[in-house]
Amino acid sequence: MSVTVGVIGCGGISRFHFSGLKKAGAKVAWVCDLSEAVARPWAEQFAAKYTADYRDILADKQVAAVVVATVSSVHKAICLAAIEAGKAVICEKTLAENADDALAIVQAAQRKGSILYTSYMKRFIPAVEKAKELMPSLGRIISTHIRAHQCWGNLWAATPAKGIFHAPPGAVSVVRGKYGGGILVCGGSHILDLVLFFLGRPRRLFASMHTPAGMDCDLQATALMETDNGTVCFEALAHPLTRVGFLRDGWDERVEINGVGGRLEVFSSAWDQVDAKASLLVHYDNATGVATEYRYSPVSPFDRAVGFFCKNIEQGSQGAQSPLGGYEVDNLIAHIKRSAEGHQAVEVQWPI
Ligand SMILES: NC(=O)c1ccc[n+]([C@@H]2O[C@H](COP(=O)([O-])OP(=O)(O)OC[C@H]3O[C@@H](n4cnc5c(N)ncnc54)[C@H](O)[C@@H]3O)[C@@H](O)[C@H]2O)c1
Repeated sequence: MSVTVGVIGCGGISRFHFSGLKKAGAKVAWVCDLSEAVARPWAEQFAAKYTADYRDILADKQVAAVVVATVSSVHKAICLAAIEAGKAVICEKTLAENADDALAIVQAAQRKGSILYTSYMKRFIPAVEKAKELMPSLGRIISTHIRAHQCWGNLWAATPAKGIFHAPPGAVSVVRGKYGGGILVCGGSHILDLVLFFLGRPRRLFASMHTPAGMDCDLQATALMETDNGTVCFEALAHPLTRVGFLRDGWDERVEINGVGGRLEVFSSAWDQVDAKASLLVHYDNATGVATEYRYSPVSPFDRAVGFFCKNIEQGSQGAQSPLGGYEVDNLIAHIKRSAEGHQAVEVQWPI
């Protein structure tokens, strides 16, 4: 049995979802976008109906699930309406623009008994999955460094006068308008999800952020986080260095987890080149002194994530991925901002 899906939002990220849906054997019955021009090619490829009004999809009883891949500012309204209509929801990250809205979405899903996923696909990178499997071999975790360093050009030298980072007087930059913020929500959210995946919920953190004068999106967010599995050093950074990173392509995202029994290092490849570039895992075992490299063929974590979501939706089950994930990340983002603004450590509140 294949799951019948409507895709809401057919911009840049949607191609990864369409690829995953195709490989999962899902039936894409509807595509929706405010712009017919961006949606039409997908409607034709999948022999799907087009609409500019997502409520048409929610009214269709044949549709079991929706993919919400619109700009982040409308995730809340669409997710709440979809849950109310009884649909399973796969929402792009970030789940909402703030923690309260994300909480409202997960609580609505809980009340309705709906399946809800926030599509943080990095858990589905084979190197990340293998690292999670090897975590017990590290024994007690004593230190974690995690960072998302992304090459955004030199935004540190001068305020951009044009382009997606330019904030015109009285208006917001494209980056803030589409994604709700700068490097913290764009790159940082993904590795906050990995902090939750590997180490659990932080209970206390101290953060600092940097947004240059004249810009409306942050270029740096750092945080020290206390978890039940030791302290995490976190950094999301938009930098101008074009040839750094393990593939020397400017993408420099890595996780290093140290335990008393060894070390795990994950070097991820650029999110939008996952079909061509694979991530790498290095496992050092302190008992033998051996470091093992796990190299994988390039495989899209989006495909793997969407396949997992569709399989569970077909079976009517949430499966192993918590519906709270998107809310947990948005809650951490809120606490990082609060700590940075107040220049002080904060206890992380987890209402649910
Ligand atoms: N997982 C990742 O690594 C990753 C990477 C990039 C973007 N994203 C997320 O994906 C989402 C979309 O980003 P994007 O880069 O594709 O943006 P985009 O602007 O390219 O596409 C968004 C589309 O949503 C459409 N839209 C907006 N409001 C709508 C509405 N009410 N009904 C129907 N369509 C509507 C727009 O017309 C646009 O075509 C964002 O939430 C972003 O944070 C995730």
